[in-house]
Amino acid sequence: MKAVVWHGPRDVRVDTVPDPTIQEPTDAIVRMTTTGLCGSDLHLYEVLGPYMREGDIIGHEPMGIVEAVGDDVTNLAVGDRVVIPFQIACGRCDQCNRGLQTQCETTQVTEEDSGAALFGYTKLYGAVPGAQAELLRVPHADYGPIKVPEGPADDRFVYLSDVLPTAWQSVEYANVPDGGTVAVLGLGPIGAMACRVLQQRGVEQVIGIDLVDERLAREAARGTTTLDLREHDDIAEAVRELTKGRGADSVIDAVGMEAHGSPATKLAHRLTQFLPKAISEPFMDHAGVDRLGAMLPAIDMVRRGGTVSLIGVYGGMVDPLPMMTMFDKQITMRMGQANVKHWVDDIMPLLDDTDVLGVDDFATHRLPLDEAPKAYEMFQQKTNGAIKVVFQP
Ligand SMILES: NC(=O)c1ccc[n+]([C@@H]2O[C@H](COP(=O)([O-])OP(=O)(O)OC[C@H]3O[C@@H](n4cnc5c(N)ncnc54)[C@H](O)[C@@H]3O)[C@@H](O)[C@H]2O)c1
Ligand SMILES: [Zn+2]
Ligand SMILES: [Zn+2]
Repeated sequence: MKAVVWHGPRDVRVDTVPDPTIQEPTDAIVRMTTTGLCGSDLHLYEVLGPYMREGDIIGHEPMGIVEAVGDDVTNLAVGDRVVIPFQIACGRCDQCNRGLQTQCETTQVTEEDSGAALFGYTKLYGAVPGAQAELLRVPHADYGPIKVPEGPADDRFVYLSDVLPTAWQSVEYANVPDGGTVAVLGLGPIGAMACRVLQQRGVEQVIGIDLVDERLAREAARGTTTLDLREHDDIAEAVRELTKGRGADSVIDAVGMEAHGSPATKLAHRLTQFLPKAISEPFMDHAGVDRLGAMLPAIDMVRRGGTVSLIGVYGGMVDPLPMMTMFDKQITMRMGQANVKHWVDDIMPLLDDTDVLGVDDFATHRLPLDEAPKAYEMFQQKTNGAIKVVFQP
């Protein structure tokens, strides 16, 4: 089959690799019909390169048709239309029962001290072959796959794999008070969808922040008050000006470790690519590698006693944080990978023909898998109006 394979920093290729097969009785094989390109894949594309191995298959936003099932998979049949959560969970352990599927005790990558295994996400998360491929082996298919109805195009449902539950969790964790104001940093797919979820819940003032014209324009057209980072030296002050001088009740950071605007760590990120793996990996483990260009303003722009919800991914081990400010302002912080299955039943009713969240035309690019190298470059550089790319293998 064809698959998107990592060969080195900013070097992904479409290779022919062996077809996956059923290995455990709880496996399924799914033929991908649509499979997304996520902001998290961009971390692998460059910054998290030291954790990648040449030959790794990337991708974790799968949707397709069941092609084969193992003997213990009784909930699925060949031909079913399914969306697969980006994390692999058992559905039976204590953590899954708590709704913390990203902490699943069955699939936790204990040798790396990491949470649940993820599709296509480095050896830190189990080095499980990913979904930007013609076929995907789905472990724990007796629990994970979400069956979706026939009829609407894939766009209606594919975002259940990641974008929708991630945006949803960012809003849940933001703890928005009645009548509250929310600032959303980053208007990529996750931040944009978070703005839409907030509006759907009736939050009146949603302030979206980014530095890319078409991302700002697209959410402004749907009622978000936008602030262009390039026009403000002090973005937190700009948010205070819109919120009676107090700051936003809740702030969602949908940017993460590759934030624009911290030159020193940007240099550290680039340098690790030129180090031999034996040196670069420990360096990534022990150096504060995150660019905090979004998290620090988030802490600054939240009002005293408010909540910061981090949904953008961070990976540093010794990031310097302004603890005095965080303590003195009495802020709450919540974070983590989205627990996909925890939110699916809440989201599903919104995926009807009224399309309140605008999923049907959320993708700006639908491309064949062969165009993956170009698509990664375009999505990273934010050219050609690329906001969300999906592949149709
Ligand atoms: N927690 C989860 O489960 C989960 C799931 C999916 C994605 N993510 C993470 O969410 C983040 C966003 O992903 P995405 O798919 O939307 O991709 P993305 O990379 O396209 O979005 C990031 C956006 O932030 C903007 N930005 C950069 N620096 C900024 C700054 N200082 N202030 C404001 N905006 C800034 C960029 O212009 C871009 O539009 C990534 O870190 C990704 O890894 C987390
Ligand atoms: Zn993702
Ligand atoms: Zn579990």
